[in-house]
Amino acid sequence: MKKNKIALITGITGQDGSYLAEILLKKNYIVHGIIRKSSSFNTGRIDHLYTNTEILNKKLFLHYGDIVDTSNLNRLLEKIQPDEIYNLAAQSHVLVSFQIPDYTSQVDALGTLRILDAIRETGLNKTKFYQASTSELFGKVQEIPQTEKTPFYPRSPYGVAKLYAYWIIINFREAYNLFASNGILFNHESPRRGETFVTRKITRAAAQIVLGRQNKILLGNLDAKRDWGYAPEYCEGMWRILQHKEGDDFILATGETHSVREFTELTFKDLGIELTWRGKAEKEKGIVKSFEPDRNKLLSKNSKKIGKIRKGDIIIEVSPSYYRPTEVELLVGDSSKAKKLLGWQAKTKFEDIVKIMVDADLQKQIRK
Ligand code: NAP
Ligand code: GDD
Repeated sequence: MKKNKIALITGITGQDGSYLAEILLKKNYIVHGIIRKSSSFNTGRIDHLYTNTEILNKKLFLHYGDIVDTSNLNRLLEKIQPDEIYNLAAQSHVLVSFQIPDYTSQVDALGTLRILDAIRETGLNKTKFYQASTSELFGKVQEIPQTEKTPFYPRSPYGVAKLYAYWIIINFREAYNLFASNGILFNHESPRRGETFVTRKITRAAAQIVLGRQNKILLGNLDAKRDWGYAPEYCEGMWRILQHKEGDDFILATGETHSVREFTELTFKDLGIELTWRGKAEKEKGIVKSFEPDRNKLLSKNSKKIGKIRKGDIIIEVSPSYYRPTEVELLVGDSSKAKKLLGWQAKTKFEDIVKIMVDADLQKQIRK
């Protein structure tokens, strides 16, 4: 009988970790995940797996740990003997990395080194390693669109720490012949996206606004442009990267770019609000041009009222506290290499990602 493959996911409680765990379980892997000790519950995204008695401690095993803790990593690798490791753990917020650059580097740069070192210490030379690299490496972009050959120019402590991780992967691949790969993933979103990232911040707040539970949203740079894809597809891409014949580096992206402003307009449009903009920079406001609520969509047993939103209401303001000291203005990736060698391609369109996230947040708010 064929033995089930064993995977270890760091960052299993995050957006990507939760989707990847589902994907690997469906492919009959035994999945181990590292979770951090927290004073409150941090397993919300994997509760549906975690509370399933057919899965927990049969196909899915959770271990306390931290990628800044070397002895813990050594012990876990020794015990689990994974065939594949997916290193998704990170302090993943770019603006926060300016406030905690040392900690961000400890986790995002040296954390990667610690796992690679633990692989060598435990003699797991056949284990394949996936590193969650990022389009933030391109930062102040040197070429449009960005490919695997575009020079890097990171613009934050997060980007710089991830650049170290990127190179240490390549170094261990070349020095020790490890199967180690970088997935250079452009932004990918979903209803499970952390609430402080811009897309989720917007869809969540917009749902609250139409239900009359919040008056406005404060945002930072409305003109930043990102290549936004759909997270579950990108997590399937991570698996494909490790099924390639050898360790290599791949961009996963949609090839389209949209601004934060466009994301905001589309979000409100899905909820029946047409927006218009007035003012410039910090003084810019997002104003209601019209509101035609879909009463069937907004009213239910739990949500009995629709927000009193009128033409001329200011529902978006700009706060410089969300500006970054150095900004990444534009990202757009070319994932032809992944298409050619892995058969991977982003499928869900920008408009549909917005819709999926708006619907999920609206349902969540209505249930409250
Ligand atoms: P996320 O939702 O912020 O999840 C990060 C995960 O890392 C969480 O499970 C978190 O645990 C865990 N973690 C943080 N510090 C840790 C530590 N010291 N030790 C162990 N675990 C730790 O991030 P994501 O969006 O899923 O992204 C996954 C990875 O891909 C990250 O490395 C991110 O930098 C990278 N990436 C993301 C994108 C994107 O658009 N989403 C694009 C490119 C690259 P808690 O739940 O306890 O906080
Ligand atoms: N978070 C946030 N909050 N960003 C805002 C806001 C706001 O209120 N207003 C405007 N923005 C702009 C940011 O300045 C940035 O240009 C853009 O929206 C996207 O910000 P985030 O959603 O925080 O994502 P990110 O692109 O900085 O980083 C994400 O993607 C990277 C891949 O490119 C994270 O997931 C990183 O971990 C990932 O590596």
